[in-house]
Amino acid sequence: MKVLIGLSLLAISFFAFASVLPEAPSGFDNKSNGLVDDATHTADQENFDEIEQVSDGLGPLYNAQSCRECHQNPTSGGSSQVSELRVGHLSPGGKFQNPEIPIARGAEIIKGRTLVNDRAICPNAAFPSTEIQERVPDSENIRTFRVSLNVLGDGFVEAVPDQTFVDLAKEQCKKNHKKICGQVLYVPILEAPGQTGVGRFGWKDQHASLLSFSADAYLNEMGITSRLQPDEVTNLCNTVSEPNDKPGPDGLSDIDRFARFMRATQTPARDSQVAKTPKARQGAELFDKVGCDICHVQTLATASAGTKINGGTFSIPPALAEKQFHPYGDFLLHDVGTGDGFVVAMLEHYGKNMYQINWKNLSIPEYNNTANKIRTAPLWGVRLHSRLMHDGNSVTLLDAILRHGGEAAHVIKKFEKLKPAEKEALLEFLRSL
Ligand code: HEC
Ligand code: HEC
Repeated sequence: MKVLIGLSLLAISFFAFASVLPEAPSGFDNKSNGLVDDATHTADQENFDEIEQVSDGLGPLYNAQSCRECHQNPTSGGSSQVSELRVGHLSPGGKFQNPEIPIARGAEIIKGRTLVNDRAICPNAAFPSTEIQERVPDSENIRTFRVSLNVLGDGFVEAVPDQTFVDLAKEQCKKNHKKICGQVLYVPILEAPGQTGVGRFGWKDQHASLLSFSADAYLNEMGITSRLQPDEVTNLCNTVSEPNDKPGPDGLSDIDRFARFMRATQTPARDSQVAKTPKARQGAELFDKVGCDICHVQTLATASAGTKINGGTFSIPPALAEKQFHPYGDFLLHDVGTGDGFVVAMLEHYGKNMYQINWKNLSIPEYNNTANKIRTAPLWGVRLHSRLMHDGNSVTLLDAILRHGGEAAHVIKKFEKLKPAEKEALLEFLRSL
């Protein structure tokens, strides 16, 4: 059986085999999924929770002082109500353009990123008259908010082979007569310059690697530079030497610990009381029947132990290998009518030397094609979220469902045709996730 599973992972579609694989552990008890011992996991969590100070390299521009500030519900690594501001504008030719945001009374213009940092470390005692707060000029008239995302269980998502997503996109498109066709996006792996992987993290699938995401978040949310993101967004008011995040005695930097923390988390657990009710079970059937599961895919499986991912830099450890898990998402990009016109900002996410590197499979037209697409929101843990959809603008599950159009339009029509009790059952199922 082992050999069979191994082969299926490499060769044929292995969805059919997922049911024989062991379940990834789930829970909100802050225990490791087996990747590291609990003491190491607790220490890594302390890093994720740590409040950074100006002397640690915080800022000059930033949004918050700790990963946990935006990822904490119901525990470190969960999502939260925190949202971020992104802006841009259209070129005369109608293409999305990154914003130009003047700071320090126009002394410097911040370019190459769509994120607007809400906070800055100065004016302060050392720089009493330097104001560098980013404030949006009227010319940047495309605007959106993006709510934070859950990272619990993401080690399993990272360990899904690229080919799974490629196959899933193809099968989905074929089965649904080209009405629903998720897009796969190849994105840079920062720790393996030149290599790319299938993007699966972030609302725009902008990263494939949790280490890359850690470096991105550390710089863009907290203003802390690392070996993978060595350049500050601005050097005004900057006093700490670069990179801010240096390796400790064990050779690991903070970004390595963040990545290990996320990789070692368990997946979000279901509400077992609600899940076993007849109503929620009926709802689960209706969810599949109307076609929600076409994008909100129930089960995915990880590759075998020793498989190299992230451009060959990470070897899948036994704790993450050959497990099935239930994200209720396909991690593909879709146009469900909610797109906000944004294209991933290259320099922001992949660093200032992004264009000096020749990235395998990277396609700018494919990126441009994502302007009105959003990654299918994985529904695991959705019962715990107060604000839904990428912009947090939907506050009930029903509102979120009814906002779907575009590729999902015919599925939502079927949902609308359900009897009131059936709709209620489907919602009850969502409240069990
Ligand atoms: C100010 C709030 C904020 C802080 C601080 C923050 N994040 Fe996030 N995080 C977000 C938001 C918002 C998103 C969604 C971003 C997007 O795709 O536009 C996100 C998404 C993520 C994701 C993608 C999860 C997925 O499954 O798609 C990861 C991983 C992540 N953050 C890790 C971190 C780490 C590690 C830190 C600390 C270094 C951190 N974040 C700090 C707000 C924050
Ligand atoms: C064509 C693919 C597709 C189909 C079909 C689909 N969804 Fe979605 N779903 C998405 C995408 C993409 C998003 C994120 C949209 C956004 O944030 O703007 C999403 C978001 C959601 C959310 C919000 C979750 C969150 O955490 O914010 C819920 C709830 C949801 N879908 C439920 C459903 C239900 C129920 C159905 C069936 C009636 C369904 N979806 C059908 C793609 C799909």
